[in-house]
Amino acid sequence: MNTLYTISLYLHSWNRWIVLAAGVAVIAMALNGCRKQCEYGKQHKIASLIFMSSLHLQLLLGLLLYFVFSPITMHALSDFGAAMKNSTLRFWAVEHSFLNIVAIVLAQTGSILVKRKADARSKHKSTIIWMGIAFVLILLMIPMGFMGEARPWFRL
Ligand code: HEM
Repeated sequence: MNTLYTISLYLHSWNRWIVLAAGVAVIAMALNGCRKQCEYGKQHKIASLIFMSSLHLQLLLGLLLYFVFSPITMHALSDFGAAMKNSTLRFWAVEHSFLNIVAIVLAQTGSILVKRKADARSKHKSTIIWMGIAFVLILLMIPMGFMGEARPWFRL
């Protein structure tokens, strides 16, 4: 395996745990905030910042893999029509990449809207809706065997 490919694949693989842990924290804290009607405080902002930063890093690494390093997507891009007939190539070239980009755009939109909301309850509610939908999409498209494609949970 090419070194830069290996490095980006490993980073992309491990960063998925930061994405998942931060996503769970953001949604759980917003649910709790809504239920207990508490302030949208510093801890909510920090959790959201970690979630968004891990998503941005995941997007950057994903784009690098997609267009530069991954032999799978290189192969798919060389004949896109044929790749669409192969479920594995289609997963990596379209489903995983495109739907995760949609998820990241939804999370980013949510994070902007939350900042614009005036009261704590609306902030918590917007977080639950936008981050929640983004998180479900990420879970559906993550190659951990939930929807077909399975890769190692811990790449060592
Ligand atoms: C939150 C978003 C994302 C998560 C959680 C995620 C997660 C993963 C995981 C767990 C793998 C398997 C790594 C391994 O084999 O150990 C993977 C592979 C891959 N991801 Fe993502 N990904 C995300 C977004 C993206 C995006 C936006 C793109 C492209 C624009 C992308 C492109 C790829 C490619 C091309 C591979 C396969 C590379 C290869 O095996 O050659 N990912 N992703």
